[in-house]
Amino acid sequence: MLAPVDDLEPAELVGSLAEAYVNSRCLHVAATLGLADAVGDRTRPLTDLAADLGVDASALGRVVRHLASLGVFVVENGHVAHNDASRLLRTGDPEGLLPLTRMLALPILWDSFKTLEETVRTGRPGASFHDPGGFFAYLDAHPDESTVYDQGMTAMTLRRIARIVPAYDFTPFEVIADIGGGRGHLLRAVLERAPGARGILFDRGHVLADAEPDDRVTTLSGSFLTDPLPQADCYLLSNVIHDWSDREALTILRAVRAAATPQSTMLLIEFVVPDDASEFDASDIDIYMLALVGGRERTRDEYADLLDSSGWQLRRALLTPSQTILEAVPATDDLERGASQAIPL
Ligand SMILES: C[S@@+](CC[C@H](N)C(=O)[O-])C[C@H]1O[C@@H](n2cnc3c(N)ncnc32)[C@H](O)[C@@H]1O
Repeated sequence: MLAPVDDLEPAELVGSLAEAYVNSRCLHVAATLGLADAVGDRTRPLTDLAADLGVDASALGRVVRHLASLGVFVVENGHVAHNDASRLLRTGDPEGLLPLTRMLALPILWDSFKTLEETVRTGRPGASFHDPGGFFAYLDAHPDESTVYDQGMTAMTLRRIARIVPAYDFTPFEVIADIGGGRGHLLRAVLERAPGARGILFDRGHVLADAEPDDRVTTLSGSFLTDPLPQADCYLLSNVIHDWSDREALTILRAVRAAATPQSTMLLIEFVVPDDASEFDASDIDIYMLALVGGRERTRDEYADLLDSSGWQLRRALLTPSQTILEAVPATDDLERGASQAIPL
């Protein structure tokens, strides 16, 4: 979510928004080059840093000078040192801002924002200009970018997990499946709170290849658009449905319903657009969905409609200090339709 800009004069506001990409791009370059790691714990001459990073010293100096003017890094007499903000860009920092910034700097994200005007004219998501299969097909064909994306998503969700997971009681479930669960960061946090449960992590094959092994978690690769899903007592779909148009969202929800038992519960973790949309504080996330993937953030009623059309019924929406947990159960008129079509494990 973006910082509020209410305290700027109108002319300053418009001017600063018009050129905000200069700031973003300098930060992206610093993160992608690994500048914060190169600075280390010392004050280092710019020329040494440029030599270590294999870049042009003069160009690097101008980028760092601009970042320093914004409050990230300190530059004095041709030397660069850290401040509290630039330290956040070091590898392993628990805030996860380095993987997050690297994800936002990815060519496919930047290219998709370059074509935002085309997206607005045509309604087509930017990634589809770069791969006809869309964003995830592009990532499948570009494993290096895909790894950076997965690391960024993991960091982004880790920042939210502590505010989401305590809001729900996972202890009644024996098998919890995280569908599109990335590297399993949410699933592991959930399993910590449900010691009697085991987990199934379902995602694209190369995402799972990077998931850390765990004796409580079984990994299963496939596509939730085309493959059968595993049977579970509880399904987690965190930041998954918002990636997709209504048509594809229904395909995914129906696939989960086909695998579920009549007693299963499904939890969608999403940013839900409030009734007064002007109060929506994740409108920037909605723009990522527009520019990249052709998905959208939805209202509670829009989620209820999707659930209704896919054999589910929205039982409640739990507001957490971060996102909303939409709890759904199989629709009662759907229960007579027979056995689950889950893949056997
Ligand atoms: C926005 S990320 C959310 C990741 C994780 N659930 C979280 O909240 O951090 C969307 C996830 O859906 C996965 N995904 C995309 N297309 C998929 C497909 N066709 N089948 C299975 N997983 C898919 C991606 O690999 C990615 O891990």
